[in-house]
Amino acid sequence: MVAQASNTMDSLVLFFLLSLSFSLPFSSLSLDTIHEGTSLAIEKSEDILISPDGVFSAGFYSVGDNAYCYAIWFNKPSRGKNQTVIWMANRDQPVNGRSSKLSLLKTGSLILTDAGKFIVWATNTQSLSPVHLSLYNTGNLVLQNMEGVTLWESFDFPTDTLLPQQLLTRNTRLVSSRSQTNYSSGFYKLYFDNDNLLRLLHDGLEVSSVYWPDPWLVSWEAGRSAYNNSRIAVLDTFGNFSSSDDFTFMAADYGLELHRRLRIDYDGDVRLYSWDKVGEKWVVSWQAIQRPCIIYGICGANSLCSYIVGSDRKCSCLPGFKMKNVTDWSYGCEPDFHLSCNRNESGFLLLPHVEFFGYDYGFFPNSTLDQCKNLCLQLCNCKGFQFKFSPKGGSCYPKTLLLNGYRSPNFEGDLYLRLPKHNLFSFTNYVQDFTLDCSSKGTVQLGRSYNKSRANGIVKFMLWFACGVGGFEIICIFLVWCLLSRTQQGSGANKQGYLVAITGFRRFTYAELKKATKGFKDEIGRGAGGIVYKGVLPDNRAVAIKHLNEHNNQGEGEFLAEVSIIGRINHMNLIEMWGYCVEGKHRLLVYEYMEHGSLAQNLSSQALDWEKRFDIAVGTAKGLAYLHEECLEWVLHCDVKPHNILLDSNYQPKVADFGLSKLQNRNLENSSFSRIRGTRGYMAPEWVCNLPITSKVDVYSYGIVVLEMVTGKGPTRGVHAIDSGGLAEPKTLVTLVREKRNEAATMASWLEEIIDPVLEGNYEKGKMETLVTVALQCLEEEKDARPSMSQVVEMLLSQENDSHNDHVVNL
Ligand SMILES: *[C@@H]1O[C@H](CO)[C@@H](O)[C@H](O)[C@H]1NC(C)=O
Ligand SMILES: *[C@@H]1O[C@H](CO)[C@@H](O)[C@H](O)[C@H]1NC(C)=O
Ligand SMILES: *[C@@H]1O[C@H](CO)[C@@H](O)[C@H](O)[C@H]1NC(C)=O
Ligand SMILES: *[C@@H]1O[C@H](CO)[C@@H](O)[C@H](O)[C@H]1NC(C)=O
Ligand SMILES: *[C@@H]1O[C@H](CO)[C@@H](O)[C@H](O)[C@H]1NC(C)=O
Ligand SMILES: *[C@@H]1O[C@H](CO)[C@@H](O)[C@H](O)[C@H]1NC(C)=O
Ligand SMILES: *[C@@H]1O[C@H](CO)[C@@H](O)[C@H](O)[C@H]1NC(C)=O
Ligand SMILES: *[C@@H]1O[C@H](CO)[C@@H](O)[C@H](O)[C@H]1NC(C)=O
Repeated sequence: MVAQASNTMDSLVLFFLLSLSFSLPFSSLSLDTIHEGTSLAIEKSEDILISPDGVFSAGFYSVGDNAYCYAIWFNKPSRGKNQTVIWMANRDQPVNGRSSKLSLLKTGSLILTDAGKFIVWATNTQSLSPVHLSLYNTGNLVLQNMEGVTLWESFDFPTDTLLPQQLLTRNTRLVSSRSQTNYSSGFYKLYFDNDNLLRLLHDGLEVSSVYWPDPWLVSWEAGRSAYNNSRIAVLDTFGNFSSSDDFTFMAADYGLELHRRLRIDYDGDVRLYSWDKVGEKWVVSWQAIQRPCIIYGICGANSLCSYIVGSDRKCSCLPGFKMKNVTDWSYGCEPDFHLSCNRNESGFLLLPHVEFFGYDYGFFPNSTLDQCKNLCLQLCNCKGFQFKFSPKGGSCYPKTLLLNGYRSPNFEGDLYLRLPKHNLFSFTNYVQDFTLDCSSKGTVQLGRSYNKSRANGIVKFMLWFACGVGGFEIICIFLVWCLLSRTQQGSGANKQGYLVAITGFRRFTYAELKKATKGFKDEIGRGAGGIVYKGVLPDNRAVAIKHLNEHNNQGEGEFLAEVSIIGRINHMNLIEMWGYCVEGKHRLLVYEYMEHGSLAQNLSSQALDWEKRFDIAVGTAKGLAYLHEECLEWVLHCDVKPHNILLDSNYQPKVADFGLSKLQNRNLENSSFSRIRGTRGYMAPEWVCNLPITSKVDVYSYGIVVLEMVTGKGPTRGVHAIDSGGLAEPKTLVTLVREKRNEAATMASWLEEIIDPVLEGNYEKGKMETLVTVALQCLEEEKDARPSMSQVVEMLLSQENDSHNDHVVNL
């Protein structure tokens, strides 16, 4: 009896507790409006306004040690995690955690008092009739009187965020926060300038300058109109932003009604975020600046910005300089040496491909390097100079300040930094960072900018959308949830959160891949680096899985760093990596599967007609140009050959196996031949001769591949190669073609002799001539005489455009 009674009691208590905990959120926290005479105290955690739909809250927000700001934030991510602040009343003057309060006075003013004494912020409004303060579903905090007249609203005083339907006007501007954790006003501003253009400004400690749109463009070149002086910009809930200067953009996920916010981030970039319900996080659906090193002031004076793995960019001091404030890069670097005005004590250190924008003493065209040096030496405050060679005469820009510095292999000028002569040589190590090499220990990647593939983003979004509309929503959500929750277990997962959101790149377990390949049964390729198997993922995507050789493998951290570079490289002519696996000794890479195998497998077949061959040549060149010049990390391929050019279902080429030079062959570091990548027959002469390597080694290999496609002959086939020590110069095919060219009187006649008989004479003469001419240029012995991959693309495409008059020659 007794036991039974206590049981009943227990369940009663339990029921009571349960009902209490269920009702709690509804009872005390549903305030969205306060009336005059009310104060919200900092000590009372329930004194929070919540918008009727529960999306926004307004209250005291902790910004540091016993420091609070009155703020509005998104209730997403939900409690426990850091909330997303969208507005602050007193960002530059936080209040104390005791006795501070927000009060709505009978006079109609809203005031914020610090520690019960000082007024740190006020709306300075007045009203004769009673007023009330409400937090709307839009995220707007509005002060109204009885008549419904709006006296004040937070939308008119933005901090760093613009919400949908909130107007950016001539009177408002967005100001970034100081850093990720410091919410006070920072250095970057988004505003309407006096000429009616919407601009981004770096308003730094010492200097200020506009960096968006590109300052050297006039308004119409930047696609803007300076004539409309209404100066209004607005974002709608679907992701359409439009401004009165004709600047518009649409979010990558345009069309969906999502929570969105446009923010000028502390790093000076403006990003549109949308709330991903499934992943419970904010994802970037647009950003103003793709290459973050372009943003001014990011590294302060005398330092260089470059792109690195893991975070977007890093700052480093110029040689001979040290950081001014070790906690904050915006202060830049200062000289760690003394330099007198005496010109005899100065020397110059060459930093190749380094640009410092602006702050020139003047521009001196048509000067020689020596003239430019002399000019700089004569000026006491010349910190160095930028010099660009050109056959018509060099351009010389002496610099009074070294600001906005970054290095980029694409930049053709060099910087000559002025330093004391006597210790100039001690900085040579620094300069070696810039050299390239194809061995496993060399630096193959170099800081480069990155075109995020917009088209791809849209396609992905369309897929998403189709999923939803097609009624597969639940399946999709479940799959993505599985994907995300599994990925989050991995140790490298946090770094790649953004990657997962944008591309679906992820970590697999060994068991998953074993299952996908049915126990590694279906081998489709085998190379020096490892064996490739075909497999099918649970979502029915066919994949090629490369199992890297075990004895070569490096540590997990290093592997993850490398893989995350490759995972970010995204171009239609480069094979896409979908994920990787690292478990114990196993290192595997998961790629999209290419239906038609490699170019090598197809070359001898009838399937590759002339048009396909030309398209493959163009596509391959585009892929390599992207690797060399456009992608986040400047990547040399070092092993371009028909086996590494794969063909999709439309015979579009995708270059495979790039970025792998560091993932493989660790154990061969000490061997006498360390430049282990590369295949005989495709290697450039300078490589075989152990001379310094540049991107031109890939250009050479590409030339061989094109000749092979045109002639149907392998690089060493048909001629007796004399092997001297295993590494003879692979001139055979090249020599053959060159000889034919030199012997023949006209282009057409010798072309006929070399062209692959499989084509049976079906080809466009003009295009073929261009293709062979370009290939022979790529095969110049002297590397500087070879074109760059982007020049190759240009030459081939120029032919494409005026080839309409060309007939197919039928012999
Ligand atoms: C929350 O913010 C604090 C600093 O304010 C930071 O140290 C912490 O990493 C953040 N947490 C998350 C989950 O972002
Ligand atoms: C935020 O930055 C400002 C300006 O540099 C500085 O005065 C303030 O102390 C910083 N606040 C915190 C909490 O670090
Ligand atoms: C975006 O908004 C502007 C201004 O409201 C409008 O003119 C334009 O048609 C909109 N674009 C789309 C695709 O809805
Ligand atoms: C100026 O811009 C505003 C806002 O975008 C627009 O409503 C107005 O029609 C524009 N005026 C002219 C003359 O184009
Ligand atoms: C260094 O920067 C921090 C953060 O902005 C600032 O609080 C501090 O005062 C600075 N120190 C010096 C020596 O300028
Ligand atoms: C610099 O060196 C030159 C020749 O070496 C000499 O004539 C000149 O006096 C020196 N100038 C100074 C300021 O020492
Ligand atoms: C550049 O200098 C050379 C010789 O010094 C001169 O002949 C030429 O006209 C100059 N060119 C220009 C554009 O000034
Ligand atoms: C990269 O972007 C620039 C400008 O946005 C464009 O001109 C260039 O063609 C792009 N490159 C590739 C490979 O997409």
